[in-house]
Amino acid sequence: MDKRIIANNLLIDDEMEATLRPRFFQEYIGQTSVKEMIQVAVEAAKKRNESLDHVLLYGPPGLGKTTLAQVIANELGVNIKVVSGPTVERTGDLAAILTSLEPGDVLFIDEIHRLPKIVEEILYSSMEDFVIDIVVGKDSGAKSIRVDLPPFTLIGATTRFGDLTGPLRDRFGIVHKLEFYTDNELETICKRTSEIYECPSENLAVIELAKRSRGTPRIVNRLFRRVRDYADILGDGTITLDITKLALDKLKIDEQGLDRKDREYLLSIIEKYHGGPVGLETIATSISEDPLTLEDVYEPFLIQKGFISRTPRGRVVTEKAYRHLKKGYQGTLFQ
Ligand code: ADE
Repeated sequence: MDKRIIANNLLIDDEMEATLRPRFFQEYIGQTSVKEMIQVAVEAAKKRNESLDHVLLYGPPGLGKTTLAQVIANELGVNIKVVSGPTVERTGDLAAILTSLEPGDVLFIDEIHRLPKIVEEILYSSMEDFVIDIVVGKDSGAKSIRVDLPPFTLIGATTRFGDLTGPLRDRFGIVHKLEFYTDNELETICKRTSEIYECPSENLAVIELAKRSRGTPRIVNRLFRRVRDYADILGDGTITLDITKLALDKLKIDEQGLDRKDREYLLSIIEKYHGGPVGLETIATSISEDPLTLEDVYEPFLIQKGFISRTPRGRVVTEKAYRHLKKGYQGTLFQ
């Protein structure tokens, strides 16, 4: 396939995703208890005329960490500066960002676990005391100058909570894990998307889409757009149950929302390693996938579905997964 087409499609998908982003708490569906706790903190900060305490959001990709950060900034009525951990390479980059903030602004650092160590270290004093020490000059002429920063709120997001260092974790006053969405919540998100795109959809189609979207808003919206393509070409543009089923089957998304990679992952453990236990690296090599991607993107959903379990000796496929894949289960000694 033409790479340019894929790239364009992704770009269009990104832009379209942005138009779906809720801007205020009222429009933000799901994550009810996290949302409520953050709402209280935001209201209190506003009432006291203070900057909001630093917030750390973690959990699998696509669950709305960036969206929630943008909602928080909108609700506070401040600007948000968005950066990604690995792109802040030098301490000077971070200093430039921090000194450009207005009082009360939000700095959102995505993939905060990937900040270089030296950059992370100057973040500590900025989070705690709103100051940074910048070294100017070289060798014997080098000296450190202290620069005051405006009070700001750091919102960090990560898929790998365990990879954050203790000192960084300790500096966040508000720490929340985002969970997978329920089918009901995804149905509500899907209906909202249908309205924003002015693309009618049958109730049963919405239920089917939600069920096959891995508890993830980004996925329900992406599948919605793919099904809409089929609806425009094969029908009158209405998303019907039949068209939804046809499109999802073509996309190789099964009734439980597993895609080709999920099935490849499970089948490789079943067929090559008798259902496990087997180490992550071994599975990754056997299906030519990056172990970190498997761990961050694929495994959380398979674990929550009860299709695999993590044991000290490695990953084990459960009987439920054997049944789903219509494979004979012989049981395992090691579960
Ligand atoms: N789109 C993506 N995530 C959403 C959410 N949590 N609520 C509403 N719309 C969304």
